[in-house]
Amino acid sequence: MAKDVIIACDFPSKEATLEFLDKFGEERPFVKIGMELFYGAGPEIVRELRRRGHKIFLDLKLHDIPNTVKKAMRVLAAHDINMVNVHAAGTKEMMAAAVQGLAEGTPEGQERPLLLAVTQLTSTSPQALKEQLLIDTPMAETIAHYAANAMEAGLDGVVCSPLEAAVVKEKCGDGFMTITPGIRYPDAAGDDQSRVTTPARAREIGSDYIVVGRPITAAADPVAAYHRVCRDFLQND
Ligand code: C5P
Repeated sequence: MAKDVIIACDFPSKEATLEFLDKFGEERPFVKIGMELFYGAGPEIVRELRRRGHKIFLDLKLHDIPNTVKKAMRVLAAHDINMVNVHAAGTKEMMAAAVQGLAEGTPEGQERPLLLAVTQLTSTSPQALKEQLLIDTPMAETIAHYAANAMEAGLDGVVCSPLEAAVVKEKCGDGFMTITPGIRYPDAAGDDQSRVTTPARAREIGSDYIVVGRPITAAADPVAAYHRVCRDFLQND
């Protein structure tokens, strides 16, 4: 399966994003547009980054009633994105509706964007899972179960911590994709992330794509930081 590094462009505006991406010259990294950027810059940012030749993961984490999610996905599919996601906690019915909306909205002759489910946010600690969400099942088991639900609903993979990629592959098979944020080097700040590991370890455990934000965007030299992550994660690919 293809492996790649996705940069989380968590910036408030189009200007800030383009200023950051301009540092990469002719290189066109795979980028993630999340809520901050999409809500701040609007859908135009998606068109602009596509025009520039970036692959796009639209990380809007939809979670609503099935009909609302289906209709939202129909609209998002028209944006020529590569990946988009929902929360697995929205149920299998909601996830299946999302697949349907996405398929309906994909223009003729184009491939349907990949649809992923967020299992548990990588900022959620095992303690928060138990004490705040009242989920007594251990984290890894919860994630494997949510991943199986996503697979049954027709999704292509899940977003999870790299530490759980192996459990997901074991439960759902190697062809079911794992996209993993929560990437940190031991010498760096963890920020608000809880379940983290390094790019090389993420590769060993079975991540197909890693999503890296602040370790690249907040680095003194973002391009060098990106290349370090690519070297460690992609190795000989
Ligand atoms: O800066 P950092 O590397 O922590 O960024 C991780 C990115 O991945 C953020 O944009 C965050 O919204 C996203 N993400 C996450 N955990 C998930 C799903 C997405 O951290 N489960």
